[in-house]
Amino acid sequence: MNEAVSSLSVEQAYELSDSDIADLCDAAESAILDGGGFGWLKPPPRDLLERYWRGVLLVPERELFVARYEGHAVGSAQLVRPPRNNEAQNSIATITTNFVAPWARGHGLARDLTVACEKSARQHGVRFINLDVRETQDAAIQLYESLGYERWGSNPNYAVVNGKTIVGHYYTKALKNGSGKKGHPK
Ligand SMILES: CC(C)(COP(=O)(O)OP(=O)(O)OC[C@H]1O[C@@H](n2cnc3c(N)ncnc32)[C@H](O)[C@@H]1OP(=O)(O)O)[C@@H](O)C(=O)NCCC(=O)NCCS
Repeated sequence: MNEAVSSLSVEQAYELSDSDIADLCDAAESAILDGGGFGWLKPPPRDLLERYWRGVLLVPERELFVARYEGHAVGSAQLVRPPRNNEAQNSIATITTNFVAPWARGHGLARDLTVACEKSARQHGVRFINLDVRETQDAAIQLYESLGYERWGSNPNYAVVNGKTIVGHYYTKALKNGSGKKGHPK
């Protein structure tokens, strides 16, 4: 194993240091400029991006997983579960905002982020994960299909990018062995 590969990691973030926030802002800005930055088409003002990352940790139903490359936060994914009142969907979760900075891609970090979300979901007793991607997100489509996500539908009017209407694909995956060990956030 070379040095770069041995310095890769993924873990759930319960707090973010100022340098983590700065790293995540850098990573997000690069991903947005590269054309795939979880919804943003151009980088928002830095203070807004900083508030976004701090806000993610405050949402009870969201779990943030951070990918690190040589100690720096270079990507992340979020596992989102329904609010407590939504009992009908308490076995369903969504993976969203899964991204890795362009300079840290190709090392398996997005796969590890996705698997970490799935592992946590199982511990919450989640049985199904749903997610959606733009048809132009080829790497993400390959990633999710290689992990067993099944495309069940497409929306022809999913997004508009630079005036062009973009199709979105919807995926679902049935998880095996939900153990229900974790509690719901208070
Ligand atoms: C999609 C994305 C997260 C992949 O990140 P990554 O860390 O480079 O991915 P990994 O190294 O973990 O690759 C895992 C799998 O993804 C697929 N993949 C990754 N990059 C790919 C590429 N350029 N072309 C095709 N498939 C690709 C492959 O199936 C790969 O498995 P393999 O290495 O066994 O072939 C990254 O390209 C990205 O941030 N894209 C923009 C944001 C986005 O589209 N997010 C998803 C929807 S929110």
